[in-house]
Amino acid sequence: MILTTGSAGFIGSNFVLDWFDQGDEALINLDKLTYAGNLENLASLKDNPKHIFVHGDIGDKALVSSLLARHRPRAVVNFAAESHVDRSIHGPEDFIQTNVVGTFHLLEAVRAYWSSLPEPDRADFRFLHVSTDEVYGSLSKDEPAFTETHRYEPNSPYSASKAASDHLVRAYHHTYGLPVLTTNCSNNYGPYHFPEKLIPLMIVNALAGKSLPVYGDGQQIRDWLYVKDHCSAIRRVLEKGRPGEVYNIGGWNEKANLDIVHTVCRLLDELKPRSDGKPYGDQITFVADRPGHDRRYAIDARKIERELGWKPAETFESGIRKTVEWYLENQSWVTNVLSGSYRQWVEKNYAERG
Ligand code: NAD
Ligand code: TYD
Repeated sequence: MILTTGSAGFIGSNFVLDWFDQGDEALINLDKLTYAGNLENLASLKDNPKHIFVHGDIGDKALVSSLLARHRPRAVVNFAAESHVDRSIHGPEDFIQTNVVGTFHLLEAVRAYWSSLPEPDRADFRFLHVSTDEVYGSLSKDEPAFTETHRYEPNSPYSASKAASDHLVRAYHHTYGLPVLTTNCSNNYGPYHFPEKLIPLMIVNALAGKSLPVYGDGQQIRDWLYVKDHCSAIRRVLEKGRPGEVYNIGGWNEKANLDIVHTVCRLLDELKPRSDGKPYGDQITFVADRPGHDRRYAIDARKIERELGWKPAETFESGIRKTVEWYLENQSWVTNVLSGSYRQWVEKNYAERG
């Protein structure tokens, strides 16, 4: 069996659902259930005894140690994190606590467990750390995409906290020999994406007749990957990746934010036209920029393709259509997610942007 953390969130829950679509190896899912964790994402697994959900914190070393001792997983995949850049700007502390201190405690528990394993289990064990392209900082328009050897230049409290965790993971390999793998992926989109992030926020706001807030000039570039492709890449790295290595994951889909918002609007115009017949694009508004806003991210994904034979299955066009369709078909998921705490966040983040 394997142990995954933070897998009631966006990417982790997609990973768990895919895991049980592809096989029947048991999985322990450790999640703190912050605002971003949602067990409704995993409702289809509620009668599956091979999915063992544990409510808890990666920073709780005693809990993690007891889970490892009891279940003896062959691998740990660490998705758990505070993940939203804007939240990290308003309040960085949770990011340091979970992404840095939490990852440290998790690594310590895993190191003790791994050290106690007999060979060949010890050699076969893997700790896979899921990270982001944001640790590499911001690219100018013409710079080449991030390779695995790009220097770390994190610019937000979020990316700095992820960078710190990547360094800890690296050090645990270098110093203790823990068989780690690190993946740095570009922006994901797809089902179960919490509507504080760009794409789901635009879909949800558009359908609710609300404004579509584009930060600054909307010309910041992100490199978008459909979440199921990220999950297949993680599975590939887990099975075939070389311990100690870093793999960048991306879909070669660089798009400016404003183009993304227009694409979402056009799909909604087609699939769920506004009752007044006007285009959703009329709801776009430009608001104050994010402080320290990174201009461009782009992933060079040649290493994972060359060494592990991984490529994304979706194009941006197919993935974004599936995503918009999923939100239209899962309005009750959206309604449940839009809880009181979510509304408070929206008020705080957008009120001061004017
Ligand atoms: P998310 O915010 O949707 O989910 C995070 C999950 O972690 C939630 O279920 C939350 O309850 C859980 N969690 C938070 N703190 C915890 C703790 N202390 N102990 C246990 N669980 C905890 O995030 P996501 O978008 O699914 O991202 C997952 C991982 O992938 C993160 O490490 C993130 O940095 C990385 N990543 C995300 C993207 C993206 O575009 N979303 C891209 C690249 C990498
Ligand atoms: P986001 O989904 O928060 O991901 P990240 O900051 O990790 O890349 O934002 C994606 C891009 O969209 C980013 O450049 C900020 C921008 N953005 C907006 O323009 N308006 C919004 O309301 C949000 C949430 C993001």
